[in-house]
Amino acid sequence: EKGGFDSFMDKEIHDQPHAVADTLLGRTDLSGRLTLDEIRIDESVLRAVDKIIVIACGTAAYAGHVAKYAVEHWCRIPVEVELAHEFRYRDPIVDEKTLVVAISQSGETMDTLMAVRHAREQGAKVLSIVNTQGSTIPRESDAVLYTHAGPEIAVASTKAFLSQITAAYLLGLYLAQLRGNKFPDEISGLLDELRALPDKVQTVIERGEYVRATARSMKDATSVLFLGRHVGYPVALEGALKLKELAYIHAEGFAAGELKHGPIALIDAGQPVFVVVPSPNSREGLHSKVVSNIQEIRARGARTLVIAEDGDDAVRQFADEVFWIPKAPSLLQPLLAVVPLQIFAMALATAKGLDVDQPRNLAKSVTVE
Ligand code: BG6
Repeated sequence: EKGGFDSFMDKEIHDQPHAVADTLLGRTDLSGRLTLDEIRIDESVLRAVDKIIVIACGTAAYAGHVAKYAVEHWCRIPVEVELAHEFRYRDPIVDEKTLVVAISQSGETMDTLMAVRHAREQGAKVLSIVNTQGSTIPRESDAVLYTHAGPEIAVASTKAFLSQITAAYLLGLYLAQLRGNKFPDEISGLLDELRALPDKVQTVIERGEYVRATARSMKDATSVLFLGRHVGYPVALEGALKLKELAYIHAEGFAAGELKHGPIALIDAGQPVFVVVPSPNSREGLHSKVVSNIQEIRARGARTLVIAEDGDDAVRQFADEVFWIPKAPSLLQPLLAVVPLQIFAMALATAKGLDVDQPRNLAKSVTVE
């Protein structure tokens, strides 16, 4: 069943181009308009939404964190992202104009389910983004947008993450279409960019051997840091989570802008630091700021492992290693930038002789609170 791969995780990493493509499939009509038929929430209700709260746990929450940047930008609706177990117990402000989006691969995570129930009791509409058909969370939601990643067996989530971001982006574009925030040709342009992603994800996977070799050379590392900015920030958090889960190494993700406010004190000679570099052409203009961060940590002795877009020559001179990813619009970069981080964690854990499909102390779906 592993399809010739050493682990389910390795297979699922290789499934990612399909996971994204299948999640996009069949969601437009002949004229190119997005038609999310599954969303059986009244259009008038969706037009009136004045706040979105994403609830999820673990990797699914990081997918929500990525989606926040895109959905706010496209729809001009405030989006909060909250861990489901925190949301449930803090008396959140939720009413009929709140759309709660629950993201879960399994559809069975108890913390997320309890948060869904709580939100509905407060009168919110709940839309879930779930991978497992017929699971509990969709049954208890007002609507469901299924990801089509196929079964995910390895405990550490990979292809589900990419498909969750894809589905959340479809939802964002659908809301923008419905509410008139974007012209139809802007939306179809963004859909075209999404459809171009699977081939690019495939390219990143094909470049994986260099990442694996780097990981093998680092199997004695005791701490690895991850920096990212804008949508690269949740990617950094996810990269750190993967390494903790799989390789049992202390790992932390930070927003790159936060470096000077504390984390830079951690940098000393030889400290490995991954940095996710925004596109040089990104509208947000953050590229040069992140390149400065790389210089700052390198000057203090860090070993810099940089994820950068093809052709980004500015990073070369400050990077000990560069993992290149194809060019993409900045909001879509997370679907590419996370892949080397997944491969790195898997390869490092494998080099340590660990079981990457079944890390210690973890379960694929946590059905207790
Ligand atoms: C954790 C899994 O226990 O639950 C993670 O180990 C996962 O991989 C998280 O991201 C949330 O699970 P789900 O099924 O709700 O997406």
